[in-house]
Amino acid sequence: MRLDKFLCEMNMGTRSQVKDAVRKGLVAVNGIPAKSADMKINENTDKVAFRDRILQYRKYSYYMLNKPPGMVSATVDNTADTVVSLLKGEMHSGDIFPVGRLDKDVTGLLLLTNDGNLAHRLLSPARHVDKTYQVTLEHPISPKDIERLESGVDIGEEKPTLPAQVSVVTEDVILLTIHEGRFHQVKRMLLAVGNGVRSLKRISFGALRLDETLREGEYRELTPEEIDLL
Ligand code: URA
Repeated sequence: MRLDKFLCEMNMGTRSQVKDAVRKGLVAVNGIPAKSADMKINENTDKVAFRDRILQYRKYSYYMLNKPPGMVSATVDNTADTVVSLLKGEMHSGDIFPVGRLDKDVTGLLLLTNDGNLAHRLLSPARHVDKTYQVTLEHPISPKDIERLESGVDIGEEKPTLPAQVSVVTEDVILLTIHEGRFHQVKRMLLAVGNGVRSLKRISFGALRLDETLREGEYRELTPEEIDLL
């Protein structure tokens, strides 16, 4: 990889800023000041230092975000802030995207990465990756609602939803686990049974669970164990 590309990916600045840093002798490769920004480096074995700090390269980045309300799950949007804007300044931030979407008002677990293959696998409809939502309801949940959600409901599409799992927290808070990712699925399921959603928070995605120490708008990198789980 070219040295300037590497430095940009590591978020050390724009192309012209990193070129300038190389010219000023602020970048060293294996202990020797780099002569030109377009020199080739091996990002996995060469030790690149910027202002005497060694930069550890990783091809992919994985972040868990506790999505705040009011942000759009996209990389660009004309009307609202996007979740990726929260990661500005992180490695690969220019290539990072959210894996799937949460509605603008919905909070909770969102995975962000630049690993397209992983995203593709997790979003593949054939894989039925489980997602669990904490749902605050408009009305107390009834045994009939539970039975219908757990057997699959008609949300106006060709096929009813796959059977979901309901766990009752209080009379108007449930945990709902679904195995698909249809548009506004949870809200439409609750409407279909004559209830409604007051607020929605995703607490798990596949084997990944939301780190409850993250406040809304906060994120952290996944641990190696969490990456393995995915
Ligand atoms: N179901 C919804 O209705 N909205 C979401 O954002 C996710 C699941």
